[in-house]
Amino acid sequence: MIGSGRSDVHVTITGLGAHVPERVITNDELAQLVDTSDEWIVERTGIRERRIAAETEALSDISLPAAQQALEQAGSDGKDIDLLIVATVTPDMMFPSTAAILADRLGAADAAAYDLSAGCTGFMYGLAQAYGMVAAGLARRALVVGGDVLSRILDWTDRSTVVLFGDGAGAVVIEPSDEAGFLAFELGADGAGGEHLWLPGSGSRRFEEPDGLVKMNGREVFKFATRVLVQSAEAVLDRYGTNVGDVDVYVPHQANVRIIDHATKKLGIPSDRVVINVDRYGNTSSGSIPLALAEAQADGRLRAGSLVLMTGMGAGLTWGSALMRWTQRLEASPAKPATPGQKTRPPGAAAGAGAAA
Ligand SMILES: CC(C)(COP(=O)(O)OP(=O)(O)OC[C@H]1O[C@@H](n2cnc3c(N)ncnc32)[C@H](O)[C@@H]1OP(=O)(O)O)[C@@H](O)C(=O)NCCC(=O)NCCS
Repeated sequence: MIGSGRSDVHVTITGLGAHVPERVITNDELAQLVDTSDEWIVERTGIRERRIAAETEALSDISLPAAQQALEQAGSDGKDIDLLIVATVTPDMMFPSTAAILADRLGAADAAAYDLSAGCTGFMYGLAQAYGMVAAGLARRALVVGGDVLSRILDWTDRSTVVLFGDGAGAVVIEPSDEAGFLAFELGADGAGGEHLWLPGSGSRRFEEPDGLVKMNGREVFKFATRVLVQSAEAVLDRYGTNVGDVDVYVPHQANVRIIDHATKKLGIPSDRVVINVDRYGNTSSGSIPLALAEAQADGRLRAGSLVLMTGMGAGLTWGSALMRWTQRLEASPAKPATPGQKTRPPGAAAGAGAAA
Protein backbone atom coordinates (compact mmCIF):
# COMPACT_ATOMS: atom_id res chain seq x y z
CA MET A 1 0.00 0.00 0.00
CA ILE A 2 1.40 3.40 -0.94
CA GLY A 3 0.15 6.93 -0.89
CA SER A 4 1.19 9.18 1.97
CA GLY A 5 2.72 11.56 -0.57
CA ARG A 6 2.57 15.17 0.47
CA SER A 7 4.55 17.74 -1.35
CA ASP A 8 5.07 21.48 -1.00
CA VAL A 9 4.13 21.82 -4.66
CA HIS A 10 0.39 22.00 -5.33
CA VAL A 11 -0.76 19.83 -8.22
CA THR A 12 -4.24 19.75 -9.67
CA ILE A 13 -6.46 18.80 -12.59
CA THR A 14 -6.65 21.68 -15.06
CA GLY A 15 -8.62 20.00 -17.85
CA LEU A 16 -11.11 17.18 -18.09
CA GLY A 17 -12.67 15.35 -21.02
CA ALA A 18 -14.63 12.19 -21.74
CA HIS A 19 -15.87 10.27 -24.73
CA VAL A 20 -18.04 7.22 -25.35
CA PRO A 21 -18.77 5.44 -28.63
CA GLU A 22 -22.06 6.20 -30.35
CA ARG A 23 -23.49 2.69 -30.32
CA VAL A 24 -25.96 2.11 -27.48
CA ILE A 25 -26.82 -1.44 -26.45
CA THR A 26 -29.83 -1.87 -24.20
CA ASN A 27 -30.57 -4.70 -21.81
CA ASP A 28 -33.36 -5.89 -24.09
CA GLU A 29 -30.88 -6.28 -26.94
CA LEU A 30 -28.57 -8.33 -24.68
CA ALA A 31 -31.54 -10.52 -23.77
CA GLN A 32 -31.65 -11.53 -27.44
CA LEU A 33 -28.06 -12.77 -27.21
CA VAL A 34 -27.93 -14.50 -23.81
CA ASP A 35 -30.41 -15.85 -21.28
CA THR A 36 -31.05 -12.67 -19.30
CA SER A 37 -33.64 -9.91 -18.95
CA ASP A 38 -33.84 -6.18 -18.46
CA GLU A 39 -35.47 -6.82 -15.08
CA TRP A 40 -32.61 -9.05 -13.85
CA ILE A 41 -29.88 -6.70 -15.03
CA VAL A 42 -31.51 -3.58 -13.56
CA GLU A 43 -32.27 -5.25 -10.24
CA ARG A 44 -28.81 -6.84 -9.78
CA THR A 45 -26.64 -4.10 -11.31
CA GLY A 46 -28.61 -0.89 -11.96
CA ILE A 47 -27.34 -0.93 -15.57
CA ARG A 48 -29.85 -0.05 -18.30
CA GLU A 49 -27.60 0.41 -21.33
CA ARG A 50 -23.95 0.68 -22.32
CA ARG A 51 -21.89 2.00 -25.25
CA ILE A 52 -19.96 -0.33 -27.53
CA ALA A 53 -17.15 0.67 -29.90
CA ALA A 54 -17.61 0.18 -33.62
CA GLU A 55 -15.58 -2.58 -35.25
CA THR A 56 -13.18 -0.02 -36.67
CA GLU A 57 -12.67 1.80 -33.36
CA ALA A 58 -9.74 1.02 -31.06
CA LEU A 59 -8.86 2.52 -27.68
CA SER A 60 -6.79 5.35 -29.18
CA ASP A 61 -9.79 6.38 -31.32
CA ILE A 62 -12.16 6.76 -28.37
CA SER A 63 -9.45 8.31 -26.19
CA LEU A 64 -8.50 11.00 -28.70
CA PRO A 65 -11.66 13.16 -28.34
CA ALA A 66 -11.46 12.87 -24.52
CA ALA A 67 -7.81 13.93 -24.55
CA GLN A 68 -8.49 16.82 -26.93
CA GLN A 69 -11.34 18.04 -24.73
CA ALA A 70 -9.15 17.88 -21.61
CA LEU A 71 -6.35 19.79 -23.35
CA GLU A 72 -8.79 22.42 -24.58
CA GLN A 73 -10.15 22.96 -21.06
CA ALA A 74 -6.62 23.29 -19.74
CA GLY A 75 -5.83 25.87 -22.44
CA SER A 76 -3.04 23.60 -23.72
CA ASP A 77 -2.39 21.48 -26.72
CA GLY A 78 -0.44 18.31 -27.38
CA LYS A 79 2.94 19.98 -27.70
CA ASP A 80 2.65 21.25 -24.09
CA ILE A 81 2.41 17.70 -22.69
CA ASP A 82 5.61 16.04 -21.50
CA LEU A 83 4.08 12.93 -19.89
CA LEU A 84 1.23 10.81 -21.27
CA ILE A 85 -0.09 7.81 -19.34
CA VAL A 86 -2.87 5.60 -20.71
CA ALA A 87 -4.44 3.35 -18.08
CA THR A 88 -6.10 0.40 -19.80
CA VAL A 89 -6.38 -3.37 -20.15
CA THR A 90 -7.41 -3.10 -23.80
CA PRO A 91 -4.66 -1.16 -25.59
CA ASP A 92 -4.79 -0.92 -29.39
CA MET A 93 -2.08 -3.62 -29.30
CA MET A 94 0.63 -4.77 -26.86
CA PHE A 95 3.17 -2.49 -28.51
CA PRO A 96 3.59 0.24 -29.43
CA SER A 97 1.74 1.52 -26.40
CA THR A 98 -1.56 3.29 -26.92
CA ALA A 99 0.03 6.21 -25.07
CA ALA A 100 2.71 6.50 -27.76
CA ILE A 101 0.08 6.27 -30.53
CA LEU A 102 -2.03 8.91 -28.80
CA ALA A 103 0.97 11.17 -28.16
CA ASP A 104 1.69 11.11 -31.89
CA ARG A 105 -1.93 11.91 -32.78
CA LEU A 106 -2.00 14.78 -30.29
CA GLY A 107 1.30 16.26 -31.46
CA ALA A 108 2.99 15.52 -28.12
CA ALA A 109 6.13 14.70 -30.04
CA ASP A 110 8.67 14.29 -27.25
CA ALA A 111 6.42 13.30 -24.35
CA ALA A 112 7.27 10.27 -22.27
CA ALA A 113 4.40 7.91 -23.04
CA TYR A 114 3.44 4.54 -21.62
CA ASP A 115 0.45 2.33 -20.82
CA LEU A 116 -0.39 1.26 -17.30
CA SER A 117 -2.21 -1.93 -16.34
CA ALA A 118 -4.11 -1.99 -13.05
CA GLY A 119 -7.54 -3.22 -14.15
CA CYS A 120 -10.45 -0.89 -13.48
CA THR A 121 -8.23 0.93 -10.94
CA GLY A 122 -5.83 1.99 -13.68
CA PHE A 123 -6.98 5.60 -13.81
CA MET A 124 -6.40 6.03 -10.06
CA TYR A 125 -2.89 4.60 -10.39
CA GLY A 126 -2.27 6.92 -13.36
CA LEU A 127 -3.41 9.96 -11.38
CA ALA A 128 -1.05 9.09 -8.53
CA GLN A 129 1.89 8.55 -10.89
CA ALA A 130 1.29 11.81 -12.72
CA TYR A 131 0.86 13.66 -9.43
CA GLY A 132 4.18 12.23 -8.20
CA MET A 133 6.04 13.10 -11.40
CA VAL A 134 4.66 16.65 -11.54
CA ALA A 135 5.15 17.28 -7.80
CA ALA A 136 8.74 16.07 -8.07
CA GLY A 137 9.42 18.25 -11.10
CA LEU A 138 10.05 15.33 -13.47
CA ALA A 139 7.10 16.41 -15.59
CA ARG A 140 5.61 19.85 -16.15
CA ARG A 141 2.24 18.95 -17.62
CA ALA A 142 0.84 15.42 -17.75
CA LEU A 143 -2.10 13.92 -19.58
CA VAL A 144 -3.68 10.89 -17.90
CA VAL A 145 -6.16 8.87 -19.95
CA GLY A 146 -8.30 6.08 -18.54
CA GLY A 147 -10.18 4.04 -21.08
CA ASP A 148 -11.14 0.59 -22.23
CA VAL A 149 -12.79 -1.23 -25.11
CA LEU A 150 -13.82 -4.19 -22.99
CA SER A 151 -16.36 -5.29 -25.60
CA ARG A 152 -13.37 -6.75 -27.51
CA ILE A 153 -12.43 -9.18 -24.71
CA LEU A 154 -15.88 -10.18 -23.46
CA ASP A 155 -17.36 -13.60 -24.06
CA TRP A 156 -20.61 -12.59 -25.75
CA THR A 157 -22.15 -15.93 -24.77
CA ASP A 158 -21.44 -15.46 -21.03
CA ARG A 159 -24.39 -13.74 -19.37
CA SER A 160 -22.51 -13.23 -16.11
CA THR A 161 -20.02 -10.77 -17.64
CA VAL A 162 -21.53 -9.45 -20.85
CA VAL A 163 -24.25 -7.49 -19.05
CA LEU A 164 -21.79 -5.57 -16.86
CA PHE A 165 -19.33 -3.82 -19.14
CA GLY A 166 -19.21 -1.02 -21.70
CA ASP A 167 -16.65 1.02 -23.62
CA GLY A 168 -15.53 4.57 -22.85
CA ALA A 169 -12.62 6.85 -22.05
CA GLY A 170 -11.81 9.94 -20.03
CA ALA A 171 -8.77 12.17 -19.72
CA VAL A 172 -7.33 14.79 -17.38
CA VAL A 173 -4.51 17.30 -17.64
CA ILE A 174 -2.43 17.55 -14.47
CA GLU A 175 -0.08 20.41 -13.65
CA PRO A 176 1.27 22.53 -10.81
CA SER A 177 -1.13 25.04 -9.36
CA ASP A 178 -1.34 27.95 -6.91
CA GLU A 179 -4.14 26.20 -5.06
CA ALA A 180 -4.10 22.77 -3.47
CA GLY A 181 -5.67 20.17 -5.75
CA PHE A 182 -4.60 16.62 -4.87
CA LEU A 183 -4.44 16.07 -1.13
CA ALA A 184 -3.80 12.34 -0.64
CA PHE A 185 -3.75 8.98 -2.39
CA GLU A 186 -4.12 5.39 -1.27
CA LEU A 187 -3.35 2.50 -3.63
CA GLY A 188 -3.03 -1.24 -3.16
CA ALA A 189 -3.21 -4.68 -4.75
CA ASP A 190 -3.89 -8.26 -3.70
CA GLY A 191 -2.57 -10.67 -6.33
CA ALA A 192 -3.91 -13.63 -4.37
CA GLY A 193 -7.38 -12.70 -5.61
CA GLY A 194 -6.24 -12.25 -9.22
CA GLU A 195 -8.05 -15.35 -10.48
CA HIS A 196 -11.43 -13.88 -9.59
CA LEU A 197 -11.24 -11.48 -12.53
CA TRP A 198 -8.77 -12.35 -15.23
CA LEU A 199 -7.89 -12.83 -18.87
CA PRO A 200 -6.04 -16.17 -19.10
CA GLY A 201 -4.11 -16.66 -22.31
CA SER A 202 -3.57 -12.96 -22.92
CA GLY A 203 0.15 -12.95 -22.13
CA SER A 204 3.24 -15.14 -21.82
CA ARG A 205 1.66 -17.70 -19.44
CA ARG A 206 0.46 -20.78 -21.36
CA PHE A 207 -3.04 -22.07 -20.66
CA GLU A 208 -4.67 -25.29 -21.81
CA GLU A 209 -7.53 -23.67 -23.67
CA PRO A 210 -6.83 -19.97 -23.95
CA ASP A 211 -9.68 -18.06 -25.51
CA GLY A 212 -8.49 -14.57 -24.55
CA LEU A 213 -11.83 -13.68 -22.98
CA VAL A 214 -12.71 -12.26 -19.54
CA LYS A 215 -13.42 -14.77 -16.76
CA MET A 216 -14.98 -13.60 -13.54
CA ASN A 217 -16.17 -14.98 -10.23
CA GLY A 218 -18.88 -12.37 -9.68
CA ARG A 219 -19.65 -13.19 -6.06
CA GLU A 220 -15.99 -13.00 -4.98
CA VAL A 221 -15.47 -9.74 -6.86
CA PHE A 222 -18.63 -8.36 -5.27
CA LYS A 223 -17.33 -9.17 -1.77
CA PHE A 224 -13.93 -7.69 -2.56
CA ALA A 225 -15.45 -4.54 -4.08
CA THR A 226 -17.77 -3.77 -1.20
CA ARG A 227 -14.89 -4.23 1.26
CA VAL A 228 -12.18 -2.20 -0.49
CA LEU A 229 -14.37 0.70 -1.58
CA VAL A 230 -15.01 1.37 2.10
CA GLN A 231 -11.51 0.58 3.40
CA SER A 232 -9.67 2.59 0.78
CA ALA A 233 -11.94 5.63 1.17
CA GLU A 234 -11.52 5.57 4.94
CA ALA A 235 -7.74 5.19 4.59
CA VAL A 236 -7.33 8.17 2.26
CA LEU A 237 -9.57 10.39 4.41
CA ASP A 238 -7.64 9.33 7.48
CA ARG A 239 -4.33 9.97 5.75
CA TYR A 240 -5.33 13.57 5.07
CA GLY A 241 -6.81 13.95 8.55
CA THR A 242 -10.39 14.56 7.49
CA ASN A 243 -13.59 12.55 7.65
CA VAL A 244 -16.41 11.49 5.42
CA GLY A 245 -18.69 14.32 6.59
CA ASP A 246 -16.44 16.79 4.72
CA VAL A 247 -16.74 15.01 1.36
CA ASP A 248 -18.80 17.10 -1.10
CA VAL A 249 -18.61 14.84 -4.15
CA TYR A 250 -18.02 11.07 -4.06
CA VAL A 251 -16.98 9.46 -7.36
CA PRO A 252 -16.80 5.67 -6.91
CA HIS A 253 -15.89 3.20 -9.65
CA GLN A 254 -19.05 2.60 -11.67
CA ALA A 255 -19.27 -1.20 -11.51
CA ASN A 256 -22.71 -1.87 -10.11
CA VAL A 257 -25.28 0.31 -8.30
CA ARG A 258 -25.55 -2.29 -5.52
CA ILE A 259 -21.80 -2.06 -4.85
CA ILE A 260 -21.95 1.75 -4.88
CA ASP A 261 -25.01 1.81 -2.58
CA HIS A 262 -23.33 -0.55 -0.15
CA ALA A 263 -20.16 1.59 0.05
CA THR A 264 -22.13 4.82 0.28
CA LYS A 265 -24.24 3.55 3.19
CA LYS A 266 -21.29 2.01 5.01
CA LEU A 267 -19.27 5.20 4.65
CA GLY A 268 -22.26 7.36 5.58
CA ILE A 269 -22.16 9.60 2.50
CA PRO A 270 -25.53 11.21 1.67
CA SER A 271 -26.82 9.93 -1.68
CA ASP A 272 -27.03 13.42 -3.20
CA ARG A 273 -23.21 13.62 -3.00
CA VAL A 274 -22.64 10.42 -4.98
CA VAL A 275 -22.03 10.50 -8.74
CA ILE A 276 -23.67 7.59 -10.56
CA ASN A 277 -23.78 7.01 -14.32
CA VAL A 278 -23.37 3.23 -14.45
CA ASP A 279 -27.04 3.02 -15.50
CA ARG A 280 -26.11 4.55 -18.89
CA TYR A 281 -22.55 3.31 -19.50
CA GLY A 282 -22.13 0.09 -17.50
CA ASN A 283 -18.64 -0.57 -16.16
CA THR A 284 -16.19 1.14 -18.51
CA SER A 285 -13.17 -0.08 -16.50
CA SER A 286 -10.42 2.57 -16.53
CA GLY A 287 -12.82 4.99 -18.20
CA SER A 288 -15.32 4.83 -15.36
CA ILE A 289 -14.02 7.43 -12.91
CA PRO A 290 -13.02 10.13 -15.43
CA LEU A 291 -16.36 9.66 -17.24
CA ALA A 292 -18.23 10.15 -13.95
CA LEU A 293 -16.02 13.11 -13.04
CA ALA A 294 -16.71 14.77 -16.39
CA GLU A 295 -20.45 14.35 -15.89
CA ALA A 296 -20.26 15.84 -12.42
CA GLN A 297 -18.39 18.80 -13.85
CA ALA A 298 -20.92 19.25 -16.65
CA ASP A 299 -23.76 19.11 -14.09
CA GLY A 300 -22.12 21.88 -12.05
CA ARG A 301 -21.64 19.56 -9.08
CA LEU A 302 -17.91 20.20 -8.92
CA ARG A 303 -17.45 23.67 -7.47
CA ALA A 304 -14.28 25.49 -6.50
CA GLY A 305 -13.36 24.21 -3.05
CA SER A 306 -15.41 20.98 -3.28
CA LEU A 307 -13.73 18.08 -1.51
CA VAL A 308 -13.78 15.24 -4.04
CA LEU A 309 -13.25 11.59 -3.11
CA MET A 310 -12.60 9.08 -5.90
CA THR A 311 -12.21 5.34 -5.30
CA GLY A 312 -11.61 2.64 -7.86
CA MET A 313 -11.21 -1.14 -7.65
CA GLY A 314 -10.79 -3.92 -10.14
CA ALA A 315 -8.69 -6.69 -11.65
CA GLY A 316 -5.41 -7.46 -9.92
CA LEU A 317 -7.16 -7.36 -7.58
CA THR A 318 -6.43 -3.65 -7.16
CA TRP A 319 -7.88 -0.62 -5.48
CA GLY A 320 -7.07 3.07 -5.20
CA SER A 321 -8.41 6.35 -3.85
CA ALA A 322 -7.59 9.99 -4.41
CA LEU A 323 -8.74 12.94 -2.35
CA MET A 324 -8.67 16.36 -3.96
CA ARG A 325 -9.94 19.89 -3.58
CA TRP A 326 -11.57 21.02 -6.84
CA THR A 327 -9.89 24.18 -8.05
CA GLN A 328 -11.35 27.44 -9.32
CA ARG A 329 -10.05 27.16 -12.86
CA LEU A 330 -12.22 24.16 -13.65
CA GLU A 331 -15.47 25.14 -12.01
CA ALA A 332 -17.29 26.57 -14.99
CA SER A 333 -16.02 24.69 -17.98
CA PRO A 334 -18.54 22.01 -18.87
CA ALA A 335 -17.45 18.81 -20.54
CA LYS A 336 -19.60 16.78 -22.90
CA PRO A 337 -19.13 13.18 -21.82
CA ALA A 338 -21.58 11.46 -24.08
CA THR A 339 -22.15 11.43 -27.79
CA PRO A 340 -25.68 10.89 -29.12
CA GLY A 341 -26.90 7.32 -29.00
CA GLN A 342 -27.45 5.13 -31.99
CA LYS A 343 -28.71 1.59 -31.65
CA THR A 344 -26.90 -1.00 -33.71
CA ARG A 345 -26.15 -4.69 -33.51
CA PRO A 346 -23.86 -5.71 -30.60
CA PRO A 347 -20.62 -7.61 -31.22
CA GLY A 348 -21.21 -11.35 -31.24
CA ALA A 349 -24.74 -11.01 -32.58
CA ALA A 350 -25.19 -12.83 -35.84
CA ALA A 351 -26.83 -10.81 -38.57
CA GLY A 352 -30.56 -11.29 -38.25
CA ALA A 353 -30.19 -12.49 -34.62
CA GLY A 354 -32.78 -9.96 -33.63
CA ALA A 355 -30.77 -7.16 -32.07
CA ALA A 356 -32.02 -3.77 -33.15
CA ALA A 357 -29.99 -2.42 -36.01
C1 LIG B 1 -22.23 -10.43 -11.39
C2 LIG B 1 -23.28 -10.03 -10.35
C3 LIG B 1 -24.14 -8.91 -10.90
C4 LIG B 1 -24.19 -11.24 -10.11
O1 LIG B 1 -25.17 -10.88 -9.17
P1 LIG B 1 -25.48 -11.84 -7.94
O2 LIG B 1 -26.62 -11.26 -7.21
O3 LIG B 1 -24.18 -12.05 -7.21
O4 LIG B 1 -25.93 -13.14 -8.68
P2 LIG B 1 -25.31 -14.59 -8.53
O5 LIG B 1 -23.94 -14.65 -9.10
O6 LIG B 1 -25.49 -15.02 -7.08
O7 LIG B 1 -26.29 -15.41 -9.45
C5 LIG B 1 -27.65 -15.56 -9.13
C6 LIG B 1 -28.31 -16.30 -10.27
O8 LIG B 1 -28.42 -15.42 -11.40
C7 LIG B 1 -27.88 -16.06 -12.54
N1 LIG B 1 -27.34 -15.04 -13.43
C8 LIG B 1 -26.07 -14.61 -13.52
N2 LIG B 1 -25.99 -13.65 -14.46
C9 LIG B 1 -27.23 -13.50 -14.96
C10 LIG B 1 -27.79 -12.69 -15.95
N3 LIG B 1 -27.04 -11.80 -16.65
N4 LIG B 1 -29.10 -12.78 -16.20
C11 LIG B 1 -29.87 -13.64 -15.54
N5 LIG B 1 -29.40 -14.45 -14.58
C12 LIG B 1 -28.09 -14.38 -14.30
C13 LIG B 1 -26.85 -17.01 -12.00
O9 LIG B 1 -26.60 -18.04 -12.94
C14 LIG B 1 -27.52 -17.52 -10.76
O10 LIG B 1 -28.43 -18.51 -11.11
P3 LIG B 1 -28.62 -19.80 -10.17
O11 LIG B 1 -29.14 -19.26 -8.85
O12 LIG B 1 -29.61 -20.60 -10.93
O13 LIG B 1 -27.26 -20.42 -10.04
C15 LIG B 1 -22.62 -9.61 -9.02
O14 LIG B 1 -22.02 -10.73 -8.40
C16 LIG B 1 -21.59 -8.55 -9.20
O15 LIG B 1 -21.88 -7.42 -9.55
N6 LIG B 1 -20.31 -8.87 -8.94
C17 LIG B 1 -19.24 -7.91 -9.11
C18 LIG B 1 -18.80 -7.90 -10.57
C19 LIG B 1 -18.00 -6.70 -10.92
O16 LIG B 1 -18.31 -5.60 -10.55
N7 LIG B 1 -16.92 -6.93 -11.70
C20 LIG B 1 -16.07 -5.88 -12.16
C21 LIG B 1 -15.26 -5.31 -11.07
S1 LIG B 1 -14.22 -4.04 -11.65
